[in-house]
Amino acid sequence: TIAKILGQEVLDSRGNPTVEVHIFLNSGIVGRAIVPSGASTGEKEAVELRDGEKRYGGKGVRKAVANVNDVIGPALEGMNITDQRAIDYKMIELDGTDNKGKLGANAILGVSLAAAHTAAAALGIPLYRYIGGVNSAILPVPCMNVINGGVHAQNSVDFQEFKIAPHNAPDFETAIQIGEECFHALKQVLHDKGHNTGVGDEGGYAPDLKSNDEAVEFILRAIEKAGYTPGDDVSICLDPATSEMYKDGGYFFFSSTEETKSADDMVRLWEDWMNKYPIVLLEDGLGENDWEGWKTLTDTLGDKVELVGDDIFCTNPAILQQAIDKGIGNSILIKLNQIGTLTETLETIELANRNNYNCYVSHRSGETEDTTIADLTVGIGCGHLKTGSGCRSERVAKFNQLLRIERELGSAAKYAGIGAFKNVK
Ligand code: PGA
Ligand code: ZN
Repeated sequence: TIAKILGQEVLDSRGNPTVEVHIFLNSGIVGRAIVPSGASTGEKEAVELRDGEKRYGGKGVRKAVANVNDVIGPALEGMNITDQRAIDYKMIELDGTDNKGKLGANAILGVSLAAAHTAAAALGIPLYRYIGGVNSAILPVPCMNVINGGVHAQNSVDFQEFKIAPHNAPDFETAIQIGEECFHALKQVLHDKGHNTGVGDEGGYAPDLKSNDEAVEFILRAIEKAGYTPGDDVSICLDPATSEMYKDGGYFFFSSTEETKSADDMVRLWEDWMNKYPIVLLEDGLGENDWEGWKTLTDTLGDKVELVGDDIFCTNPAILQQAIDKGIGNSILIKLNQIGTLTETLETIELANRNNYNCYVSHRSGETEDTTIADLTVGIGCGHLKTGSGCRSERVAKFNQLLRIERELGSAAKYAGIGAFKNVK
């Protein structure tokens, strides 16, 4: 049973405050989690409570921490740590709002994830097995975000994430090796052309390129330079995060040409890119409020490529249900802090699974050393995740945890490979 819950303010990878929670059991066992934070957030995400005071430019989280220590903690004391659902729903009830705006999704998620870690420790089993059961053995394809643009970098690239997926590997360890070799080769090919190789928020390079196309072309060159075949060995995944580009019914290319494209133009652009490049996954190819455009996109490309909804679905089961009813997208991005509890996240995942939508687990652009999403990915067996490029410790921490899990599983471990991607042949 829960003896005490301790919240405190720590820092994320952008140097902004975030919430860390420790849960102490009567038995002496302790578990801990830290909450991440996004930059290109969906409008319908649960509310991240920020102090709005002078310190840290308003981004302090002392109020959320106080909610953990003074409101949530006392209410959960004495509860059974393995009753994750009761713990999460108790917090939802205490908050009482639809968007967790009273206590803060950062306060609630910190406790929710710390509870899962503490329960797994109390049971003496790894977190992925606590979440997924005895058969959790699928290691994900790491979709590595090697070029950063959009609001994650100050450069001339409009689209936010250009990722490589080393799907053709016998195991996760080799996949990471291939991914890193391509990442390092990319540094060289960019440097050779006189480009800056400083990195953006998620650890990808953030060069000033002539066009968005050029980002993909550099990546293809890097894959070849590293000795692999684009498409056969390593594929491309994209998150252009187009909600950030959506203005007055069109898509504004704010970093490059300053032109505006219609939804139909964007669908044609993606179709053209699918024909030119070995793309297996497109996330947020259109904006979160452009459901009509999303429908056209799904009807045009949904049977050829994984179409992931991030900002549009916000890991929210009610929104996902609307998308299922309307035939929008074929996959959902899973970000714990968009909805705010582990239980609701698992409800969204179950809804997706029942309706033949893929799940794709994600970090946030503001991350920490917390590796919960690595265990979540193996626990739900969804076969792919995105957690940044091949550098920056808050990104690599997740890869390291997946390497540990693979070694622990030994011969039981299975690498997901290309089959992880929806409708990709
Ligand atoms: P965010 O970026 O964490 O800044 O929202 C990640 C994404 O858009 O998927
Ligand atoms: Zn996204």
